[in-house]
Amino acid sequence: MTLARDTGDLPRSGRIGLRTRLARIAASPRFQSWSARMPILRRIARKEGDALFDLVQGFVASQVLYAVVELRLLHRLLDGPLAVSALAEGTGVPPARMARLAQASTALGLFRRSGDRYGLTTRGAALLGVPGLEQMIRHHDVLYRDLSDPLAFLRGETQTELADFWPYVFGAGGATDPSTTRTYSDLMAQSQGLVAEDTLQAVSFAGASHLLDVGGGSGAFAEAAARATPGLQVTLFDLPAVEGAARARLEKSDVGARIRFVPGSFRDDPLPKGVDAISLIRVLYDHEDDTVRALLSGVFDTLPPGGRLVVSEPMSGGTEPDRAGDVYFAFYCMAMRTGTVRSQREVADLMSEIGFSEIKTPRSRRPFITSVVMATKPAR
Ligand SMILES: C[S@@+](CC[C@H](N)C(=O)[O-])C[C@H]1O[C@@H](n2cnc3c(N)ncnc32)[C@H](O)[C@@H]1O
Repeated sequence: MTLARDTGDLPRSGRIGLRTRLARIAASPRFQSWSARMPILRRIARKEGDALFDLVQGFVASQVLYAVVELRLLHRLLDGPLAVSALAEGTGVPPARMARLAQASTALGLFRRSGDRYGLTTRGAALLGVPGLEQMIRHHDVLYRDLSDPLAFLRGETQTELADFWPYVFGAGGATDPSTTRTYSDLMAQSQGLVAEDTLQAVSFAGASHLLDVGGGSGAFAEAAARATPGLQVTLFDLPAVEGAARARLEKSDVGARIRFVPGSFRDDPLPKGVDAISLIRVLYDHEDDTVRALLSGVFDTLPPGGRLVVSEPMSGGTEPDRAGDVYFAFYCMAMRTGTVRSQREVADLMSEIGFSEIKTPRSRRPFITSVVMATKPAR
């Protein structure tokens, strides 16, 4: 068989590399059908085919997930398997269509089928055990609308709703009404436990006496850091609109006495002094490089020589692109229109530009939750 001829109207070029040559062969329909019949290649072709179809149907799968979450079907199955008629009860979904949803959820590994009844799989149950995941899925209706015309979106022609959803990102002034910031902080706080866990796995504040958590939201990370580090004082610095939610959390906290809230904007106000460590948890990816440079520079000036900086947020895989960082978070940030995901290397480069040293980029335990970069202000 002549595989090269099957590449149809693919552009021809005189000198192409081996990988491009192989890609052109794989793009040939005749090669695909031939490899599907060859015993050794059949398994690879099948695996590749499944992975490809997962991409093709990704949008439908995520809408199935959205419906399951919105109808609280996972919660209802926690009490045991149900028939379709029982699943449909009170949902407004006719039983025949609920049967489709149950089958789809089974195919996606969220439900298991036993005769005419559907129960919960470990994966379905695990979704309920990940703090913030349900809330995250439920607010995706906004993201789906923003991405409905991906070309217009990529060309920057879409007036994205997510940009309005998080108006506070534009700064302390303007449209920062407390109910919007509270919705946002709650959503963030739900997932903060996991981010805090992974961050504190990579970083220890032992030896530090006072941590400043800039953009700390309602204080979930401040609390976790204070709990993990006996005697550590923590200052939480965030926009005034977040103060109510933070105070409500800290009043109930067992370590609340070691945490104080200072309202302000890092765009307009000096950062609180007297600290020897600073954390920026899920803050930098909300902002463009110029804002990040100004913020890192303020952090540098605030720290004493030897002071530590910790940045933790979902990041791009850089030279090894990552599904969570380079697909989900990258497009989410584009929809917010204010920030961008960066790789550990890019964050490290920004830190080094400002003057930080001893920059560390530990391997992420769960890159879909967070990645960490640490640095130190050099001793004089
Ligand atoms: C993505 S949230 C992260 C919150 C928290 N660190 C967490 O991980 O849950 C970004 C935080 O930065 C705060 N923020 C945004 N602009 C700010 C500014 N100019 N000054 C201080 N905080 C700001 C927001 O209010 C919000 O709490």
